[in-house]
Amino acid sequence: MKAVVYEGPYDIRVEDVDDPAIEQPTDVIVRITSTCICGSDLHMYEGRTDAQAGLVFGHENQGVVEEVGSGVQRVKKGDRVNMPFNIGCGFCFNCERGWTGFCLSVNPGFAGGAYGYVNMGPYRGGQAEYLRVPYADFNCLELPDDEDHEHDFAMLCDIFPTGYHGAELAEVGMGETVAVFGAGPVGLMSAYACLIKGASVVYVIDQIPDRLKMAEDMGCVPIDFSKGDPADQITDMRKGDGVMKSIDAVGYQAIGSGEDGEEEPNVVLEGCIKVTNPTGKIGIPGLYVPSDPGASDPHASQGMFPISFGKLFEKGLSLGTGQTNVKRYNRFLRDLIVAGRVEPSLVVSKEVPLEEAPEAYERFDNREEGYTKVVLKPAA
Ligand SMILES: NC(=O)c1ccc[n+]([C@@H]2O[C@H](COP(=O)([O-])OP(=O)(O)OC[C@H]3O[C@@H](n4cnc5c(N)ncnc54)[C@H](O)[C@@H]3O)[C@@H](O)[C@H]2O)c1
Ligand SMILES: [Zn+2]
Ligand SMILES: [Zn+2]
Repeated sequence: MKAVVYEGPYDIRVEDVDDPAIEQPTDVIVRITSTCICGSDLHMYEGRTDAQAGLVFGHENQGVVEEVGSGVQRVKKGDRVNMPFNIGCGFCFNCERGWTGFCLSVNPGFAGGAYGYVNMGPYRGGQAEYLRVPYADFNCLELPDDEDHEHDFAMLCDIFPTGYHGAELAEVGMGETVAVFGAGPVGLMSAYACLIKGASVVYVIDQIPDRLKMAEDMGCVPIDFSKGDPADQITDMRKGDGVMKSIDAVGYQAIGSGEDGEEEPNVVLEGCIKVTNPTGKIGIPGLYVPSDPGASDPHASQGMFPISFGKLFEKGLSLGTGQTNVKRYNRFLRDLIVAGRVEPSLVVSKEVPLEEAPEAYERFDNREEGYTKVVLKPAA
């Protein structure tokens, strides 16, 4: 089959690889109909992780079940299914308590497994024609049999639940004010989730015009950080007040405020601490890694950044972070889609054949206009 293979920094290719096969009786094989490129893939694409050549990318996968292992009971051949980006076993201490992003079985020696991602276990990604899904009864979310809402449902693999997770980590509630840093797919979905949860005003911070426009169209207040410190812009608008909650949907590759566009890995964390009112909460779905081969200083290369912990303490702020436990949210968010109450595909800006993945990666990585969220379409 054809698959998107990482060869090295800024070098991915669509190559022939072996078809996946049933390895355990609890597996299924899914023919992929939609598989998305994610900001998380870009960390690997840019050589900013320990990813090795040969890795098949793709953790946002949806399709139709082609083959079913002998131990699978619920999922049937022909079912239309969506897979959370994390792989869970369903029976370990963490999965049992709903922390499926931190499964203790699927990636021994590490808490958490995923498809096509560095350090997340031996699972090939789904930017390919077919995908092997382990513990299929646990990991497949069933979708309605028709072909409706294909791209809305595709957002359930990661960014819609991850946006929701950001809002949950910050405990966003009715009538609250929120600042969301980042208007990439995760930031936009975080803002969307805040609105679903009843926030009164949501500020969305970025510097990319078409992404800020999407946030504005959603009913949020766009803040362009290239025009001045975003926390100051928000407190000026609010006559000296900050916000109750903030969300970091950027992560360690945050761009600093300087004109050189250099990265400043702590800039968004600092912004969150600054703009959040005393007793507020900060949700951090943005990714931070313990090892960054491309970092500019020795501390950052080990995932260590200076933050104003004293200010955080003084303000009594709390924070939450980590991989999303997609299974906590995905069926509820699916049902909101089915009921016609939400339309997360509003972030999808491009649909391209799998063969065009290298160009799509390059343009998404450059944050070109029209490349906010790309869905790849394998032909099998
Ligand atoms: N916790 C999880 O489970 C999970 C899941 C998916 C993605 N992520 C992470 O979420 C982050 C965002 O993902 P994405 O797909 O939206 O990526 P993306 O790269 O498309 O978006 C990031 C956005 O942040 C903006 N940005 C950069 N510096 C900024 C700053 N200083 N202030 C405000 N905005 C700034 C960029 O312009 C860009 O639009 C990534 O770090 C990704 O790895 C985490
Ligand atoms: Zn993703
Ligand atoms: Zn588990």
